[in-house]
Amino acid sequence: MKTHTLLMPLDMHLHLRDGVMLETVAPLSAYSYSGGVVMPNLVPPVETLEDIKAYKQRIMAAVPNDFFEPYMTLFYKNYDKAFLKSVVDDIIAIKLYPAGITTNSEGGVASFNIEEMRETLQTMSDLGIPLCVHGETDGFVMDREAEFMSIYELLATSFPKLKIIMEHITTKAAVDMLDKHENLYATITVHHLILTLDDVVGGMMRPHLFCKPIAKRPEDLDALLSVALEAHPKVMFGSDSAPHPKDKKEACGCAAGVFTAPISLQLLCEIFEQYDKLQNLQAFVSDNAQNIYGICPEFKEITLEKRPFVVPATYGSVVPMYAGEVIAWAIESVD
Ligand code: NCD
Ligand code: ZN
Repeated sequence: MKTHTLLMPLDMHLHLRDGVMLETVAPLSAYSYSGGVVMPNLVPPVETLEDIKAYKQRIMAAVPNDFFEPYMTLFYKNYDKAFLKSVVDDIIAIKLYPAGITTNSEGGVASFNIEEMRETLQTMSDLGIPLCVHGETDGFVMDREAEFMSIYELLATSFPKLKIIMEHITTKAAVDMLDKHENLYATITVHHLILTLDDVVGGMMRPHLFCKPIAKRPEDLDALLSVALEAHPKVMFGSDSAPHPKDKKEACGCAAGVFTAPISLQLLCEIFEQYDKLQNLQAFVSDNAQNIYGICPEFKEITLEKRPFVVPATYGSVVPMYAGEVIAWAIESVD
């Protein structure tokens, strides 16, 4: 049977939530991954040193028997220098959401006034704190990410030493930006390496495939595949696994988010094998992220096996992507 071994996989964009949901989903990520960049969009958001420390402890308590490093992030606001100095050792990045653009982002940035943001962004640059960005405008849904490119350019040129991560990119426009500015990087999800808008709404509407940013056009999918499969050194895997309870997804107002934590590595093996690029998966799921963020995760070795695996219908209250369907790879062992 065909197998593939990965060392220290990292999920560089992960929603773990809190409470019972945290207890359901954190062990699933901890099983497959050495660590993950934990998004701060709780209610209320993670925005003080106490919030960061307490949330990290709750995450560690939810994964008692597994080694898993939660790389903590802070919700972007205009913070002063003294505050940023006080948190620099406890965070890996700060996550910026445009106000109201996605789940729990109401307290985000309402307008990109560089002068108002200068103290925070310059201090982040000086202290080496990367800025992770949910890059969407409030324009027409298919154009939101492409419209945001001018804001990425403004940020990248105003703060040339600030590492800026374009999170969960979905368009050729974002892929093209990678080589334009030295300080721009990107995460890519697994579902955006599989889906186009057709899969979400082209036939019966599939709420469990609905997320922000929405999956785009075939040419966008091709552009994402081209950089992911080659493990372009400026791209990293970030699942954006975003669990919502079943009743919030199968509802007349469907929450945005695709839950992939328990199947993301298996799906990545399937995609990379399909294009005969399995040899590049290690860089995409770990090495590039280690280089970009300068992190050194603790050892973990995970072996996947090419055999049919039926995705469970639910994990607690959450329905995963491909629930009840057969995927081509399964986890064989973890050391
Ligand atoms: C995320 C969530 O549910 O927190 N949803 C999503 O569709 N991706 C938020 C986000 O990353 O936009
Ligand atoms: Zn996200």
